[in-house]
Amino acid sequence: MQGDIERVLISQDRIARRVRELAEQITADHTPPRMPDGGEEITIVPILTGAFIFCGDLIRQIPLPIQIGLLTVSSYPGSSLRTQGSQLLGKQLGDVRGHHVLLIDDILDSGGTIKLVVPLLKELGAASVKSCVLLRKDRPAAKETVVDYVGFEIPDEFVVGYGLDYNNYYRNLPDIVTLRAEAIERKA
Ligand code: IMP
Ligand code: MG
Repeated sequence: MQGDIERVLISQDRIARRVRELAEQITADHTPPRMPDGGEEITIVPILTGAFIFCGDLIRQIPLPIQIGLLTVSSYPGSSLRTQGSQLLGKQLGDVRGHHVLLIDDILDSGGTIKLVVPLLKELGAASVKSCVLLRKDRPAAKETVVDYVGFEIPDEFVVGYGLDYNNYYRNLPDIVTLRAEAIERKA
């Protein structure tokens, strides 16, 4: 697997440091009395599958009462290297009526996922919906999509690792990396 890596964009140490900063910022923003409407609790919703590692690391550094809901969205099915449009595949949210929801995603690319999921949570009665992405690609569609927390700005390249996949491989790489062309062909 190591031989498939073209270059390391963000090392696991840098990720860990930034996740700690994001957790501190999110904790401060959701500690009463700074919570909107005097609310106290948040429901954190990772967008599966890509956000599962980021979310696991993040929430263990947020010392607040939180609940977890799950959404599964697919945008890069199989060996796609460009978004095929975001499709909701699964939902295990419980009752989010009146809850302050924080969406967690691995990467902001076309913005299709956020634009699909934010209205859905509002329709389900969430009191507020914020979003946090680990990575944001340097492309207009990503910059124009409103999110509340961004971990890193990255070039408009296809990346894997730390939860992000190519054809469902490489999620277990600890760094964020680009892949060599041979690996992309072999795992297609
Ligand atoms: P968007 O809906 O186009 O903003 O893309 C968000 C989703 O597409 C992410 O949650 C990822 O699952 C997937 N995605 C976007 N860019 C990449 C990438 O470079 N590598 C792996 N998955 C990606
Ligand atoms: Mg995803």
